[in-house]
Amino acid sequence: MIDRPVLQVLAGEAIWPPPVWLMRQAGRYLPEYRKLRATAGNFIALSTTPAMATEVTLQPVRRFGMDAAILFSDILILPWALGQKLRYAEGEGPLMERIEDVAGLDALDLNRLKPGTESVMETVSRVRADLPPRCTLIGFAGSPFTVACYMLDGKGGNFARTMQLIYSDPGLVAAVIELVTTATVDYLSWQIEAGADCVMLFDSWAGLLPPDLFRAHVIHPTVRIVDALQARHPDVPIIGFPRLAGLMALPYIAETGIAGFGMDTGTDAPTLARLLPRKVALQGNLDPLLLRAGGVSLDHAVERIAREMAGMPHIFNLGHGIVPETPPEHVATLIERLRSLEPAPLEESPRAATSGS
Ligand code: CP3
Repeated sequence: MIDRPVLQVLAGEAIWPPPVWLMRQAGRYLPEYRKLRATAGNFIALSTTPAMATEVTLQPVRRFGMDAAILFSDILILPWALGQKLRYAEGEGPLMERIEDVAGLDALDLNRLKPGTESVMETVSRVRADLPPRCTLIGFAGSPFTVACYMLDGKGGNFARTMQLIYSDPGLVAAVIELVTTATVDYLSWQIEAGADCVMLFDSWAGLLPPDLFRAHVIHPTVRIVDALQARHPDVPIIGFPRLAGLMALPYIAETGIAGFGMDTGTDAPTLARLLPRKVALQGNLDPLLLRAGGVSLDHAVERIAREMAGMPHIFNLGHGIVPETPPEHVATLIERLRSLEPAPLEESPRAATSGS
């Protein structure tokens, strides 16, 4: 088990060159994804049909040889499984029938979660069976606050309604987050039981919140999820990604017990590394727009990020998801560049001589 580089890093080891995977590594930038997507009809069918979801999960790993695969699904499959209407409109992103009030929330049913996500668990076990042994399988869920944003606003954007409700109807927001937190513990546990080696919490909109609300709606639910998962699956590491958290990254890392922290594009990795309140693996954080642009600037940034993190437990990734316009060759170049870097000088990377095996 521990011969999986991503898991070794999450256990605190520094590896040179760092293992790599990319957020949204499966998706529209890949022609083989677009082809399968066209036959699937809609995105929910693609995500909930194990044969198709397994194939899409494996596509980038087959093409580029990443060190991890991430389950192909979406953070909104969880509220959809609880009974909230969801569709993905071409060019518009996800659209949900928004939760208007407590009655709307009461219409959702935790008992639907298990049957509603069985296909996802089937995908997880099929992917694990087909993956190269060294490749880590990452399960995931949205963090309660980010999922609640879509549930309450009904669509992406600036989440004006959710941010208004936070002050005008805090009880409704808290109840949505409470339900999602409870559901997420089971949902991630089942993914682990089906074969996920680690799990990641995507909190894409955490940065919308001022500090007191960040504590209430991001840190507290994350603590609950991490504690409950660790009680059930003590050896399974959890990666947190509270995007745009700024300085709140520090209490988030100090208080949540996550094993890995996903740095967004705006995080200065060396500064964060100096301020870390405890040892944690850092993941990230190349700008996805630079990956799209390619060229020598991309080469330099890949090398700079890797070298800045040398000697520390680091998983190379982007600071947010791959954008659909990204040429697939740029992804191949990124991985080749990273894997062909000269060894880091010893003073930069005390573990370089003993790692990389
Ligand atoms: O490869 C992977 O990263 C795994 C699969 C994955 C998807 N969504 C597939 C997807 C993961 C981990 C997610 C997470 C997700 N989904 C987040 C958190 C990360 C982030 O990007 O901030 C959020 C906020 C969502 C909600 C969501 N789903 C949005 C906003 C959109 C529309 C934007 C877009 O990229 O189209 C989706 C749709 C979606 N999720 C697609 C994919 C591949 C595109 C759907 C299509 O094929 O038309």
